[in-house]
Amino acid sequence: MAPPMLELRGITKQFPGVLANDNINLAVEPGEIHALLGENGSGKTTLMNIVYGLYHADAGEVRFEGRPLRMTSPGEAIATGIGMVHQHFMLVQAFSVTENVILGMRCRREPLLDRDGGATEVQALSAKYGLKVDPRARVWQLSVGEQQRVEILKALYRRARLLILDEPTSVLTPQETEELFEILRALASEGRSVIFISHKLHEVLSVADRITVLRRGRVIDTVRAATSSKEGLARMMVGREVVFRVNKPPARPGPVVLEVKNLQALNQKGLPALKGLSLEVRAGEILGIAGVDGNGQKELTECLIGVTRPVRGEVRVAGENITGLSPRQICRRGVAVIPEDRHRQGLVLPMQVAENIMFGNFYRPPFSRRGFLQLGVIHDVARRLAAEYDIRTPSTDIPVANLSGGNQQKVILARELSGQPRLIVAMLPTRGLDVGATEFVHRRIIDARNSGVAVLLVSTELEEILSLSDRIAVIYEGEIMGLVPGDGADVHELGLMMAGSKRLAAVS
Ligand SMILES: Nc1ncnc2c1ncn2[C@@H]1O[C@H](COP(=O)(O)OP(=O)(O)O)[C@@H](O)[C@H]1O
Ligand SMILES: [Mg+2]
Repeated sequence: MAPPMLELRGITKQFPGVLANDNINLAVEPGEIHALLGENGSGKTTLMNIVYGLYHADAGEVRFEGRPLRMTSPGEAIATGIGMVHQHFMLVQAFSVTENVILGMRCRREPLLDRDGGATEVQALSAKYGLKVDPRARVWQLSVGEQQRVEILKALYRRARLLILDEPTSVLTPQETEELFEILRALASEGRSVIFISHKLHEVLSVADRITVLRRGRVIDTVRAATSSKEGLARMMVGREVVFRVNKPPARPGPVVLEVKNLQALNQKGLPALKGLSLEVRAGEILGIAGVDGNGQKELTECLIGVTRPVRGEVRVAGENITGLSPRQICRRGVAVIPEDRHRQGLVLPMQVAENIMFGNFYRPPFSRRGFLQLGVIHDVARRLAAEYDIRTPSTDIPVANLSGGNQQKVILARELSGQPRLIVAMLPTRGLDVGATEFVHRRIIDARNSGVAVLLVSTELEEILSLSDRIAVIYEGEIMGLVPGDGADVHELGLMMAGSKRLAAVS
């Protein structure tokens, strides 16, 4: 029998305070698509960086095609036949596709780049595998999906027999994801091996032959996709039962709470990011904004919470024009914010859990009387909220920096939701959280909606949008492409809108 393409024996890697990989054994066969499934922080990227020569294992052995490897750099990995597409691409923006693909490779006319020969081969490879991209285009002109294809071309041009992709679908629309899967299947059918890293259950089930589940740096099991279920995989990933269906009663939408009219705004580079966007959210409903990252989501939420001033247009909350008000003024009008970047916007890491829970309320009684902070009251309330929101912390006076990501997010929820908001603006509220913490955050958002709060949910995770939203709007290049009911929403149709095609008949 042929040896496995890749075999890992007892791989262990310790970072300060974290055992990222704990005695990992894994075999990937030729022609196999092998998924590495695990929650954030379970050690997937570390393991593959070891295979790719970016990190050194503290212990264990990597074997490739039956021979032990002692890899000390990605250059050696590539020469051996291992290619890796990272979560963050490593392309030279000013170079053309061909230049990026052949960069660093020896060629006949050295030291000159063999651009023509390279272009022909790039064209042939892209035609063979359906990797649609113009070889002459500059990388900065390409979409994220196209840049990913260039990375794959680069690996194929280098004759990779094992291709590792680290969370490749996080930047793709559902259609682009399906196209990627077709490419991976074509590669596998030629006898190449693919390692596909993901935390999305439905994706690994649809593309992988076998799935290895990691939890806290350990292999829990390797299973065949054909005989696995989403529930079973989730249980292995999290270590307990997980509820997928977020149970929610039908929405009972009340009056309009948030009204956005013809909003125009610029991004950080001064380019138009919102191009006349309008939407409405009613009391007691969740409006989900779906879209690929970078299509104006950030600017939209920033305009709503007073961090960015729109160029034109209007934002109204409960009828009042709040355009251009400060974040604090907007907060006082009952707008709660669950920000995207918890570290920069949501928390002050060196400060105590209690202080972080109380932000924005310090100046009000009962927390402050005649200018004096009532520390006893503050800590009592913080302790009550910590219990209510299941914040796992030894006490409320340690720095919030010491908590895990999930517990930090609960600190934000406790602060924002306990103030009885009329509108919640939630931006990627579960980014980086594990399945358990995600479940909790979703439950809280639904509870708020059931009690009559209007919720604007912005997320690039389509599953999250689909499971929470009463209505779904798709944003593309700063415009709303269409609006559909959340119940029975068609992923294919959403995907088309996410790629820029407009839906004509709007549903309200
Ligand atoms: N360079 C590093 N230095 C210190 N700790 C790290 C480093 N890279 C990863 N870690 C830690 O190792 C663990 C596994 O991380 P990672 O391999 O990135 O997980 P995953 O890719 O599954 O999300 C995490 O706890 C992470 O914080
Ligand atoms: Mg990772």
